[in-house]
Amino acid sequence: MEKKQLDWANLGFGYMQTEKRYVSNYKNGAWDEGAITEDANIVLNECAGVFQYAQTIFEGLKAYTTEDGRIVTFRPDLNASRLADSARRLEMPVFPEDRFIDAIEQVVKANTEYVPPYGSGATLYIRPYMMGTNPVIGVKPADEYQFRVFVTPVGPYFKGGAKPLTIRVSDFDRAAPHGTGHIKAGLNYAMSLHAIVSAHRDGFDENMYLDPQSRTKVEETGGANFIFVTKDHKLVTPKSDSILPSITRRSIMYVAERYLKMEVEHREVYFDELKDFEEAGLCGTAAVISPVGKIVRQGEEICFPSGMDEMGATTKKLYDTLTGIQMGHIEAPEGWIRTIC
Ligand code: PLP
Ligand code: COI
Repeated sequence: MEKKQLDWANLGFGYMQTEKRYVSNYKNGAWDEGAITEDANIVLNECAGVFQYAQTIFEGLKAYTTEDGRIVTFRPDLNASRLADSARRLEMPVFPEDRFIDAIEQVVKANTEYVPPYGSGATLYIRPYMMGTNPVIGVKPADEYQFRVFVTPVGPYFKGGAKPLTIRVSDFDRAAPHGTGHIKAGLNYAMSLHAIVSAHRDGFDENMYLDPQSRTKVEETGGANFIFVTKDHKLVTPKSDSILPSITRRSIMYVAERYLKMEVEHREVYFDELKDFEEAGLCGTAAVISPVGKIVRQGEEICFPSGMDEMGATTKKLYDTLTGIQMGHIEAPEGWIRTIC
């Protein structure tokens, strides 16, 4: 299929409506067979569970064009199982994991003209999501649900691309202890909106959330996990029950250990340790790996030795290896890459 005439290299991280998306409905205890539709709008009752009690969850993954011209996705099975975990936590029915992968493939195939070409710097962002659709006024889960998947071509999540970010420690919490921080529920993102608007207003790129209980340990940002590199080149990533188990972070840990022969520590990371690290970064589907140059808490700055001009050397190696695997010029571990067409 002919590609759309888009300025691929200059796309930001935004929504561009394409012609086709996937829909499946859940009613009377069963999912229907699902279909591709051209209707981008959803009409629901005013009292639908999603509107009243925020019963909505989502995922995010990407399709890539490889060097040899295939269109592939990266570990969609992990998005399928994370969506299932999110559904169980919000008392929603699970969309079967094999059908999730099939739905992704149908939508990407239906939108191949929007998949950015190899080397353009852009990718196709895929957004699966699910919501309670029937009226509920007493506080309880809905009985009917809709699962949908749309796609949109995107460029870098942060405007500067690979330029190191300045992050501040948020005065607000994103997730409660024993709450929902570990699932991908819309409510967690609603929680972060006030904090991100005020961070941007104050000139920061993102917020670092600390653990809500003691405010001594690093959790994550509103949309990415953290990675750190020690002076002796170990990879350290924060572990907590209230952060989202990032698929990118899990993949980076594997890449660091197996491809780059680094030591990897997945553990609690105290804020007080940050000053001793050599490099810092954010990781996620949207963020890929974005370097962090500076972290600010109540006016006090932690400046990483890697500086504010470019990605630290180890972060760059991780970035090159991860994106090399995604774009098909570095051999992927078994099962990581799914060719769609
Ligand atoms: N943390 C949060 C809060 C996120 O929204 C995301 C994005 O999905 C991530 C981390 C990164 O997760 P992943 O690498 O699976 O995209
Ligand atoms: C993703 O990386 O897929 C996310 O959902 C994060 C969001 C901030 C865009």
